[in-house]
Amino acid sequence: MGGGLLIVAMALALAACSGGTDRQGSEAGAAASGGTDAMTLYKKQCLSCHAADLSGRVGPSLEEIGSKMSERQLIDTIQDGAKGMPAFKKVLRADEIETLAQWLSTHTQAEEDKP
Ligand code: HEC
Repeated sequence: MGGGLLIVAMALALAACSGGTDRQGSEAGAAASGGTDAMTLYKKQCLSCHAADLSGRVGPSLEEIGSKMSERQLIDTIQDGAKGMPAFKKVLRADEIETLAQWLSTHTQAEEDKP
């Protein structure tokens, strides 16, 4: 019994020393705020260029895209593509594009500051 407690105490001390300052808040938030359908579509079609956490790779970051573009503009961009981005109107159905645009429009700058 006593030995077990000692191990717990040591583990706590070690954890305190390593100072867990890294936060994964933004990533977890991005994953939690989207509908699963949009997430699935995004992972299949968009992740390769915009990264799993929307931070961007070949394409720009979409982390705050909801503050930059309206849902209508998002739909247009996904349908017709852009410089370096393929058009998706033949790949995705209109309602799938709408789902994605809706989901992306919830990714605004203010999102993280809300309580
Ligand atoms: C082949 C790589 C590629 C894929 C796949 C791709 N994109 Fe893009 N995307 C880009 C590039 C490159 C740009 C920048 C275009 C420009 O400079 O005008 C872009 C721009 C955008 C923009 C505008 C961003 C801004 O700040 O103006 C949106 C929104 C967007 N993509 C959404 C998507 C979505 C949603 C998907 C999946 C359906 C997707 N993209 C798939 C490469 C890609």
